[in-house]
Amino acid sequence: MLLIETYQEKFVEYLEEYSIIKEPESLYEPIQYILKLGGKRLRPVLTLMTSEIFNTDYKKALNAALSIEVFHNFSLIHDDIMDDAPIRRGQETVHEKWDVNTGILSGDAMLIMAYQLFENYDNKTFKSLAKLFSKTALEVCEGQQYDVDFETRGDVTIDEYLKMIEYKTAVLVGAAMKMGAIVAEASEEDQNKIYQFGKNLGIAFQLQDDYLDAFGDPKAFGKQIGGDIIENKKTALFINALKLSSLEDSLQLQHLFSINPSNPEEKIQITKQIFISSGSADATKQEIKSYTQQAFSVLETLNISEDKKLILKRFGEQLMNRNV
Ligand code: IPE
Ligand code: IPE
Ligand code: MG
Ligand code: MG
Ligand code: MG
Repeated sequence: MLLIETYQEKFVEYLEEYSIIKEPESLYEPIQYILKLGGKRLRPVLTLMTSEIFNTDYKKALNAALSIEVFHNFSLIHDDIMDDAPIRRGQETVHEKWDVNTGILSGDAMLIMAYQLFENYDNKTFKSLAKLFSKTALEVCEGQQYDVDFETRGDVTIDEYLKMIEYKTAVLVGAAMKMGAIVAEASEEDQNKIYQFGKNLGIAFQLQDDYLDAFGDPKAFGKQIGGDIIENKKTALFINALKLSSLEDSLQLQHLFSINPSNPEEKIQITKQIFISSGSADATKQEIKSYTQQAFSVLETLNISEDKKLILKRFGEQLMNRNV
């Protein structure tokens, strides 16, 4: 196994070769822009690492890893349109730099490009990858729709929220790892276990994303801080705060999350105060730990060396403590 940073470097090299501008430029330039904006490259690194965990050279998994990253970046372009987000990875979002129509079509093209990359595999692997991918991509759409539907609801439960983030985010992290296992021709049992590991890690990852959306450092995080509050997103922070805060605070929070003020600074500030004073911020941090631990306990059931388990654990711990 190589260092995580090395997988990242190898992946980015491969991506550089792939993302070239073709005609019409107005279709391909935004694709190149978003792919080269950077990002953590979390999902493709997991694909490459998983293939090596199951004793297969990471190079064999590069196209699957690229497919996952292209799909992820497609979902970000469309997500930023849906969330009305101005900034991504510290730069202008695609629909701000160009326009919404460009974001829609360049995004669509990327979804197709993601599928196309599976053509690099033999029939059996192709079929397994495409099957997993279709199921996952549909679930991501379902999760995204729940996320939007919840914006205008005040009674979202924690279980509904957990299902929503499982679909919009966690299944893709699970699938990224399972694809590495598929390429490595790991047993079905191992494929499913690594998927469960990735999915639990993915839930913790989205909880942390929701936490950072309110409490992150804007420079490091690269997205507009308070974006979820502006959009009335029913995150764990909000749901826990309703449960834990005084009646007065909970009524105020419910009111704040039913309005869309043109200057949202005060709304953001009061909301964050209630998130902290109610104990919701701490409770959310605990939930992040708990899902990371759940991922680790799945790891214990896998028949791989202790060294490899340790690498995956370190990775999970880094994600839990990230500020990016
Ligand atoms: C952002 O994903 C979307 C979420 C599911 C939270 P990342 O935080 O992995 O974004 P990049 O690729 O590193 O920018
Ligand atoms: C993103 O959730 C999920 C997908 C892109 C499918 P968010 O809306 O929380 O992601 P960010 O915070 O914009 O990256
Ligand atoms: Mg968003
Ligand atoms: Mg969103
Ligand atoms: Mg977010």
